[in-house]
Amino acid sequence: MSELQKRQIQLEVLRYNPETDTAPRYQTYSVPCLNEWVVLDALNYVKDHLDPTLSYRWSCHMAVCGSCGMMVNGEPKLACKAFIHEYGDQIKVEPMANFPIERDLVTTVEDFITKLASVKPYLIPKSDQPVSAGEFKQTPAELKKFKQYTLCINCMLCYAACPQYGLVPEFLGPAAISMAHRYNQDSRDGGRDQRQEVIATDEGVWECSFVGACSEVCPKHVDPAGALQQVKVASTIDWYKEHLMPWVKK
Ligand code: FES
Repeated sequence: MSELQKRQIQLEVLRYNPETDTAPRYQTYSVPCLNEWVVLDALNYVKDHLDPTLSYRWSCHMAVCGSCGMMVNGEPKLACKAFIHEYGDQIKVEPMANFPIERDLVTTVEDFITKLASVKPYLIPKSDQPVSAGEFKQTPAELKKFKQYTLCINCMLCYAACPQYGLVPEFLGPAAISMAHRYNQDSRDGGRDQRQEVIATDEGVWECSFVGACSEVCPKHVDPAGALQQVKVASTIDWYKEHLMPWVKK
């Protein structure tokens, strides 16, 4: 316990129970912690020792599962990657911005799940091939084109950071479009036309105003803002080909 007393922080946590509260409120917990702890450790201390009613999501504690996204001092962060030593003695923790609160730090994420599914985030093979024909081979250069976008862990921090998603909830958003781009760039995939119908639209990539906040907060350095700009360029080339050079195949 002496180690735990190395530092005392005041953890101000947004609380909201829709069954008993008319509006969200803040509750402050005094948490003894190690400087090496992350915010998730402090929340777990509260849950285990101070207040078992506190609700939040987490699983892996290693920035892989993507479930512990929340606002830490106003910035979208993974609680398991937000180190206490990077903050002062007062830390404010709130649910992810731009999502409805389900309870305390837990948000309702159905909107993102629906949008992600709509871009068909899976390989649609160019051609049917029997298993006996062997694997679909790919060169290192072909893999490099999309590998970065495979690192997305669906944590939704990019949606919490995106001012456009906050203003226009219909916006398909950074992670869903990046994931569509990931498969569109895959040399084994033949589903681009199907995805373009969803992403090359007003609610899709053209709603993005390239603020770039999504890439700044991405804990896996996926750079969704870069992916969206590439989709814009490719979609513009599609338009020119279709209208000015209809004889050229996409
Ligand atoms: S607990 Fe899995 S990403 Fe934080």
